[in-house]
Amino acid sequence: MTPAKIYLETFGCQMNELDSELVAGSLRALGYTFTADPQAAGVVLYNTCSVREHAEQKVWSRLGELAIRKRGEPGLVVGVLGCMAEREGGALMQRMPVVDVMVGPAELDKLPALLDNAVRTRAGMLADDEPRLRSAGQVALQGSASRRTGTLAAAADQLELLDLSRAVSPDDHSGSAYVRITRGCNKFCTYCVVPHTRGAEVHRPPGHIIDECKRLADAGVIEVTLLGQTVNHYRFEHGSAVAVGGVMQPQKGRVYKKSAGHTDAYAGERVTTFADLLGEIHERVPGIRRLRFVTSYPRSFGDDVLGVIRASPRICRYLHVPAQSGSDRMLAAMNRGYTVGEYLEFLDRARGVLDEPGIGRPLTVAGDIIVGFPGETEADHEATAELLRRARYKNCFIFKYSPRPGTVAHEKLVDDVPDEVKRRRNNELLALQNQISAQVSAEYAGGTVAAFVQGISRRQAKQTRREGGGGKGGVALTIAGRAVQEVQEVVVPEVGESVQMSARTEGDLIVFFDAPAAVATGLIGQIVNVRIERTTDLALHGRLC
Ligand code: 5AD
Ligand code: SF4
Repeated sequence: MTPAKIYLETFGCQMNELDSELVAGSLRALGYTFTADPQAAGVVLYNTCSVREHAEQKVWSRLGELAIRKRGEPGLVVGVLGCMAEREGGALMQRMPVVDVMVGPAELDKLPALLDNAVRTRAGMLADDEPRLRSAGQVALQGSASRRTGTLAAAADQLELLDLSRAVSPDDHSGSAYVRITRGCNKFCTYCVVPHTRGAEVHRPPGHIIDECKRLADAGVIEVTLLGQTVNHYRFEHGSAVAVGGVMQPQKGRVYKKSAGHTDAYAGERVTTFADLLGEIHERVPGIRRLRFVTSYPRSFGDDVLGVIRASPRICRYLHVPAQSGSDRMLAAMNRGYTVGEYLEFLDRARGVLDEPGIGRPLTVAGDIIVGFPGETEADHEATAELLRRARYKNCFIFKYSPRPGTVAHEKLVDDVPDEVKRRRNNELLALQNQISAQVSAEYAGGTVAAFVQGISRRQAKQTRREGGGGKGGVALTIAGRAVQEVQEVVVPEVGESVQMSARTEGDLIVFFDAPAAVATGLIGQIVNVRIERTTDLALHGRLC
């Protein structure tokens, strides 16, 4: 049987993008192929996000459409992966009988087997068979409760399999890749569903992380982003046995000494801290020319980490460190565990160590804010505006509070800020942040930045398509380089034309520049120097040096 073509759509965060990439790799190894066109697919998979209700609603409406399609196409297999599967549990299958497969974020290594079963069950089925098929649902959910009460070691082993199975080939990346260092979260911010869906914090063994980085670098990856909900809390205690594929493998780690300058290990205990991990990757995988990490938690971000970043030319001077609010009252209600003063002190400390604009390496900081958390007053809102002015983020994601079932805020607090007030506060903060972003960008005017080339700019891609480019001859450029959906739009400008390319600075600012069509393809995945001529709140515009 030829395996069906899969359409895989990813919602939400970078962690989900990585999960999708790993899942796609493991399915590809079994002979499945992917399509960017859902209509051409025999299997439709959604890797879902539950952080805000809006992302869930999109999936519900997609499922509604698939239910109609499936009436005429009973062989169609539909899978819901990720946080929504975990959160909704079996109820989702009752509400949406169109779903054949459900796999939570902690069970994704089981997807190939479940999918195979579902495809076989449905193959050649006619609409009349539907009632019999309904009993054949394939479900793998861990339930956050079981992950919290079961042994963490066992959960860690299981989770490790998906990342360990990562297939790395020079063809399926665009010079840039994510590497997971930590799964789950222990913080329990009162608004957040993540600890409930992704479970308790588990740190991957440093040896596995470094090997993965090496394999990626060997395949040509030059930019790696380490992923975790609270990356700076990374801490791996060696000596605890870790089983991989059922084989117990005690981890060997080196003994760190305090005098090494970047560790909090004490006598006799072998610990790899986040600072150690960053230092090791930087030292042992020099092929990675840009190493960055997201997301940082504003508490327990040690000077040891700042010291390693400062001493390491290939670690990006970029922090994504959400504040969530500029009001101490709101921060307490959110259970964030710090005050606005402590947050700003951290930014000052980080800038004191890392901000060196004179040598062309300024520190840039990105943030997240939630507006309209229960009880938020105009005074709280003004305090957040003041935080934005003082934090001087290069960009800040601003979200309207969305009550999530199962969280403390949903169960105990009333969502009492009306939607129109949330919307107004959101718009006010966005407008303010745009001004600040424009000021941050303007500081680059006239200078030269090193920029990692991601591909042809979206605007250019659209324009070239409109003008009838695309198809045969000329120079083929790919965008959306991630192989998740295999969306590789090929845009073919006339030879001799120039093409607008998009790139990123080490501080994650967007850079646009024009390149001759003949050389454009070769620049993708490379780091080039761009002289900045013009800036906006969104991007830097310049000329290739
Ligand atoms: N409502 C709105 N935004 C939220 N976030 C997390 N949970 C919620 C919620 N319930 C935001 C936070 C977090 C980012 C990933 O999403 O700002 O940093
Ligand atoms: Fe959610 Fe807070 Fe954990 Fe971030 S730190 S994932 S906001 S609970």
